[in-house]
Amino acid sequence: ALVSSTPLLQAAKEGGYCIGAFNVHTLEMLQAVVEAAEETRSPLIIQSTVGTVKHLGPDYIAAAATVAANRSSVPIALHLDHCSDFGTIMQCIRAGYTSVMIDASHDPFEKNVEQTRKVVEAASAVGVNVEAELGRVGGVEDDIVVDERDALLADPDECAKFVELTGVHTLAPAIGTAHGIYKGDPNIDFDRIGRIAAKVSVPLVLHGGSGIPEDQVRRAVSLGMSKMNVATELRIVFSDAIKEVFAKNPEENDPRKYMVPAKQALKAAAIEKMRLCGSIGKA
Ligand code: 13P
Ligand code: ZN
Ligand code: NA
Repeated sequence: ALVSSTPLLQAAKEGGYCIGAFNVHTLEMLQAVVEAAEETRSPLIIQSTVGTVKHLGPDYIAAAATVAANRSSVPIALHLDHCSDFGTIMQCIRAGYTSVMIDASHDPFEKNVEQTRKVVEAASAVGVNVEAELGRVGGVEDDIVVDERDALLADPDECAKFVELTGVHTLAPAIGTAHGIYKGDPNIDFDRIGRIAAKVSVPLVLHGGSGIPEDQVRRAVSLGMSKMNVATELRIVFSDAIKEVFAKNPEENDPRKYMVPAKQALKAAAIEKMRLCGSIGKA
């Protein structure tokens, strides 16, 4: 069965490693990250955005993830990424998601606390992990667009207060990363990660995992990041492999002929992220 991401992330925090949380949009993408986790004995968090929940249906996604978890010998959690709607969160929990993110980071602190607390109350009752965001991660993720000027870094004291007031299980503090591929290098406030980790007892989540230079990911993990979200890079790898098939053979019409290479490419990319995260062999 699918497991809550809470024990996985607590083990990661204690063990000083990070768990890759990969956004998937199709069955083949889901299978690719599962195969990557199994081959490397890595704990896995599969996640979907609200857009993908609408595209595929939460029940289809949860059913596929449940089959994967039941067949697998590594622990797998299914997480709802960046959701600001209570109804959608409840719908996903009912469908079988074991982890959800309530993203009220666009709201003022008090309102973020209020909404997060409401989700924590409902989700905790059924053993589902809750992640919330403080500050604002820049860039584009699904239909959430945050201009660079509106991106805000999380304050360590506010993070501590937020966790205390909400009882949230995992926290995503904005520390300078952004969704999508960076134009230059990301401007990560490493000092801030350390200060937040010193004040907050719950596992921390690094958003915007695509495009972060390897040494910077390792540094963020060593300072206390326990979950890293990766979306854009995986979509690019998957789509590029399909494009390559069609570039060679524009007449191709067997989905397996372009999905299999795409799946293989995505699996290899996920394994690389797992290596960076230090989660290989931890399951
Ligand atoms: P990237 O698209 O930069 O990998 O960010 C993913 C993310 O944070 C999903 O929540
Ligand atoms: Zn994110
Ligand atoms: Na990114």
